[in-house]
Amino acid sequence: MKLEFPKDFLWGSATASYQVEGAVNQDGKGMTSWDKYYHMPNRKYNGDVSTDHYNRYKEDIKLLSEINQKTYRFSVSWARIFPNGSGEINEKGLQFYDNLVDELLANNIEPNLTLYHWDMPLALMYKGGWLNREVVDNFVEYSKVLFTHFRGRVKLWSTINEPASEVMGGYIQGAHPPLRKNYTEALQVAHHLNLAHAKAVKLFNEMNMEGEIGIVLNPIPIHPASNKEEDIIAAKRAYDFYSDWYIAPILAGKYPEIMLEECQKKYNSPKIEPGDMEILKGAKVDYLGVNYYMRRVVANNPDSTGNIDDCFKNVRVKDGNYTEWGWEIYPEGLYELLSRIQKDYGKIDFYITENGMGFYDKVESNGQVVDDDRLDYIRQHIIQIHRCLEDGINIKGYYVWSAIDLLSWTNGFEKRYGLIRVDFDTLERSIKKSGRWYADFIANNYIEYNE
Ligand code: BG6
Repeated sequence: MKLEFPKDFLWGSATASYQVEGAVNQDGKGMTSWDKYYHMPNRKYNGDVSTDHYNRYKEDIKLLSEINQKTYRFSVSWARIFPNGSGEINEKGLQFYDNLVDELLANNIEPNLTLYHWDMPLALMYKGGWLNREVVDNFVEYSKVLFTHFRGRVKLWSTINEPASEVMGGYIQGAHPPLRKNYTEALQVAHHLNLAHAKAVKLFNEMNMEGEIGIVLNPIPIHPASNKEEDIIAAKRAYDFYSDWYIAPILAGKYPEIMLEECQKKYNSPKIEPGDMEILKGAKVDYLGVNYYMRRVVANNPDSTGNIDDCFKNVRVKDGNYTEWGWEIYPEGLYELLSRIQKDYGKIDFYITENGMGFYDKVESNGQVVDDDRLDYIRQHIIQIHRCLEDGINIKGYYVWSAIDLLSWTNGFEKRYGLIRVDFDTLERSIKKSGRWYADFIANNYIEYNE
């Protein structure tokens, strides 16, 4: 059976500035939160050079074109544009993204620009980062520069990549900068991220920008570990906490009520100023970007300390298909997730802004990477996209994470995601088997499905 896709469906792949660019001090770039983080004692790697995409973008775009990419999602490093987070613009930084966008357009690859993928200018982090409400306005000032500059050339915009990861990683688990473990701060940061997003969307509309603007979330489908009532309640709370806490303000301009009440009672946070909810409500997105990697299975945690994310615990499924890093491969989750969002909030356009899997790739003696595991992962998820489309869920594009091998925030250069391999000693690039398969698939625009 042939699974065919709409002619105008955008197939592509994605990266993020800190993970690929390198050139950490080049052309007047300011320091970022991650530059500082990776230069703390005992860090095994950093993004100082990474793939050196900053200097090799032409070669990379040529390879993207060779594998038939119709679109490419990248993020702009705020500190290249504003080395101090605000104030004076660094023209050379802007020039780099100019070159990148023009090169993409010359190769018929639609640029999809994310304004913020976690690399906060250090100067702003020192002012308190997202915890400081003033940073919201700094973000709007930065967005305005990019909207003005790329008007007409960039048609696909995302404001922020995965607010949930900023909140969880940076302010609850203390694993990402600024390494905090404080629920009151975390909830406030989430609210400020929502405000920053909403104000940027408002500006985009006021400026009558051509194209579409949205946000990139990473909602997770959550399954209860058993049919026991306590596990079902745990799964519901986990979905509210990981997923709906971020979806509701974007699609409905509100926070999930029960959780909001609980958070404000327990942590006295988030503090919502008069007018804030109207700002969130007024910012209608053109689409929702969804990054999907895996599902979570959770059980009730009998040893909970009472914290909001502590009443459930992750459980490993007996017959689950896990990678060496413990990420479960569960393609059906993509369909389940989008169906749930559409059921809860009504019809909306989606882009799958990231989907992919990290593996230790093996290089054969002939230099080839025969990454059948990645190829199969992508193929299975594309089949789920078809299932969504058949069911009236309007997905307009799909981005493999990642276009090219890059720095994994948590696992450095060992864990590979790319369709294109990078030899991190020589910085040589080569197309993997998954990249060639994806290129053929895009050219055909159908999948032969006999399972
Ligand atoms: C996504 C991020 O959540 O996960 C990417 O948007 C990231 O930037 C990806 O690379 C995989 O996670 P990690 O920790 O392996 O880089």
